[in-house]
Amino acid sequence: MKGRNLTRDGRVALTMDDDRPPLHLVLLSGRARLPEDPAELRHRAARVAVRCRREDRAEEFGARNGVPGELLAHVNVGEVVAIRDLTAGAVPRADRQPRCARRRTRTRKAQGRENQGIMRVMSDDHAHVQEFFTARAAEWDSKFPDDGPAYATAVADLGLRAGGRVLDAGCGTGRALAPLRAAVGPTGMVLGADLTPAMLAAAVAAGRDREGALLLADVAALPLRSECLDAVFAAGLIAHLPRPVENLREFARVVRPGGRLALFHPIGRAALAARQGRQITPEDLRAEPNLLALLSRSGWRMTSYVDEDARFLALAVRES
Ligand SMILES: C[S@@+](CC[C@H](N)C(=O)[O-])C[C@H]1O[C@@H](n2cnc3c(N)ncnc32)[C@H](O)[C@@H]1O
Repeated sequence: MKGRNLTRDGRVALTMDDDRPPLHLVLLSGRARLPEDPAELRHRAARVAVRCRREDRAEEFGARNGVPGELLAHVNVGEVVAIRDLTAGAVPRADRQPRCARRRTRTRKAQGRENQGIMRVMSDDHAHVQEFFTARAAEWDSKFPDDGPAYATAVADLGLRAGGRVLDAGCGTGRALAPLRAAVGPTGMVLGADLTPAMLAAAVAAGRDREGALLLADVAALPLRSECLDAVFAAGLIAHLPRPVENLREFARVVRPGGRLALFHPIGRAALAARQGRQITPEDLRAEPNLLALLSRSGWRMTSYVDEDARFLALAVRES
């Protein structure tokens, strides 16, 4: 890494890999700042020593390295891609994970069902969402024990075929994974992406990682190749998306033309508002005219809309 380049353009990417099988990789990218204030230089140089477990020599390192002429790059990390056990799992062809997982990693992610771990791809700060769902993860399934059939019906309406490839976006504890797997069968591919580790941990504890591969990922920046999926299923997610147009566009990017999107909730808008003790306003993102406009701005054509007490389901087709 050249200091000259950092001065000109603060973008930086750092890769660390363990090249012994089963191979591990971490890629950090972000923006570097080059502080020049002597006090900050000295302070940070001393902290680097502490991080390197040389607390005893922190002052000495700070004094030696935190001086004009030395370059210190302070990187604000925007994205982390970490993959464990790249070569793990001699997978039968039918279960092989998609080429599309290579978009950010340029590495094949092939994990057998027995080995499925959680692949980590994060960007942005989602502390609030994570905090909210972490507190609810352990109780999530027992709180809504009767939702299973509604998920199964919604998945059936998505019209998946055997061998299809589908992402459960914001999969949480993975309540949709079993019906999605049943729809695409053993030759299909099911991915679940969520940014709250505790929700994914609950999915693993419930054995749902057997139904699909789990990604710790922000659905706003999916680690998937363009047009590699047949469909995206998103249950209870849309209200949590900070930039719905961009976020739904990201779904359109990873789905092939003609592929499908389901925005689902196991209860309708009115019932949900009542449960949460609020009123529905005309600005509600999921109101039919709002959703119609939102979807068409983000590369989707809404094909059906149901909002009844027992469920909310909007289906859309990816425009070519
Ligand atoms: C209401 S829960 C629904 C979970 C699951 N789909 C279900 O139906 O049980 C919303 C989930 O979306 C996840 N989530 C919110 N924003 C996300 C984002 N930007 N990327 C990935 N997951 C997100 C949360 O962590 C949470 O698990």
